Amino acid sequence: MSNPIGVGLIGLGTVGSGVVELLQDAPSSMRRRKHVDFALKRVAVRDRARPRAVAVDKALLTAEAAEVVADPAVQLVVELTGAAPAYEWVSAALRQGKDVGTANKALLAERGEELFELALKNGADLMFEASVAGGIPIIRSLRSGLVANRVESLYGILNGTTNYILTRMSRGEGDYADILKDAQDEGYAEPDPTMDVSGMDAAQKLAILCRIGFHSTGTGSDVFCEGIEHIEQSDIEYARELGFVIKLLAIAKQQNGSVEARVHPAMVPTDSLLANIHDEFNAIQVQGSAVGPQVFSGRGAGQMPTASAVVADMVEMVERKVAGAGTAIGDMILGEEAVSIAPVENVEMRYFLRALVCDQPGVLERIARILAEEHISIASVIQKERDLEGGSVPLVIVTHEAKEAAMQRALGAIDALDAVPDGVKLIRMEEL
Ligand code: NAP
Ligand code: HSE
Repeated sequence: MSNPIGVGLIGLGTVGSGVVELLQDAPSSMRRRKHVDFALKRVAVRDRARPRAVAVDKALLTAEAAEVVADPAVQLVVELTGAAPAYEWVSAALRQGKDVGTANKALLAERGEELFELALKNGADLMFEASVAGGIPIIRSLRSGLVANRVESLYGILNGTTNYILTRMSRGEGDYADILKDAQDEGYAEPDPTMDVSGMDAAQKLAILCRIGFHSTGTGSDVFCEGIEHIEQSDIEYARELGFVIKLLAIAKQQNGSVEARVHPAMVPTDSLLANIHDEFNAIQVQGSAVGPQVFSGRGAGQMPTASAVVADMVEMVERKVAGAGTAIGDMILGEEAVSIAPVENVEMRYFLRALVCDQPGVLERIARILAEEHISIASVIQKERDLEGGSVPLVIVTHEAKEAAMQRALGAIDALDAVPDGVKLIRMEEL
């Protein structure tokens, strides 16, 4: 066995503690690899006095992450904070030629390009398997196992927190706010859970997958994104009545010279694979040109699944160095084949529309006329019994396939009707 690799850890929260646990009790699969021996040299946290879930020598703790990066005993930096200065720490480490592992999707999705260039220039590596889909080795599969394929499409559940919320709401296990609190207690949610429920966390993950799978340059903000905040129990009930389940889907498809990329709640058929991914689990269905359909599924959030992915990267970085195999980051650099993420206006799909409308003659006809003017054809209508107290009735319309831009124009016009005082809610439908 060669000298242990000096590890500097920035962040000892949910994921950081999991990484320390795995390093302290390495499974035999890791111990058998003769060059893989890690020694924790320095650990940065915000609050040194806070009790920790794992035993770490107090003398290693610092509140200054920059000290971890600068420590000459640290050869490999592992960033697990998700904090705003992460870019500074990671870029400083790469500039010093130190390899970096991170689970920080925001950092990769928004500033990956700069970091990849920096790593390449300094002969350092940057790996981030844990940034997408927790313990599922999807990045490794796209860049390696599926390298002989042109990725044609990718459908995923990429956020554990929202899948946990939607699953438990569909089982009638509480309301949105209480279940979100449980997801936070379980360690699934981001420090700012708005990132999860707004869809932005999944959009950032999708941008990372698009980069590797489709060679696209876009960031999380280029991905069309809508969250689950507006999903109500009644939407889940209507979906069930229609034979669907609501999931926060991340979808990317190859187009001519660009990529379609979107994240939004979607109704998917009850018997589809993605409808049956529950709780904090994630799944990704990839369509490869040579291999055909492939499905990856597993825990997408939580301490040990995420730590498993971080440690796998640490092992690969060490083994690549020892073997003189170059950096993994070399595979991520986009050449002339780089494509952009396209706007979604021309995407066509079916839509579920729900509104509380005033119980007056002609309202349904006016809504139908607006849809017809946009060439949107109605597939079915459900109108429940009159709500005697409010004088309004719930109206549900399912459309045939229509263009997103046309649907947005129609929604604007319907929202302007006096007879639809609270506006229309829309959920997209995916047949899968
Ligand atoms: P967490 O439990 O909130 O832990 C964050 C850690 O970072 C804490 O130890 C905190 O110190 C430390 N920290 C925060 N700001 C710091 C600063 N300025 N200087 C030094 N240390 C600082 O977060 P987490 O859930 O482990 O997530 C960490 C990263 O992994 C994030 O990028 C997240 O997106 C990503 N991730 C998380 C999961 C998951 O399931 N949790 C899954 C995939 C990816 P204190 O302990 O003293 O507060
Ligand atoms: N907050 C993220 C999620 C953690 O719920 O999926 C895993 O990236």
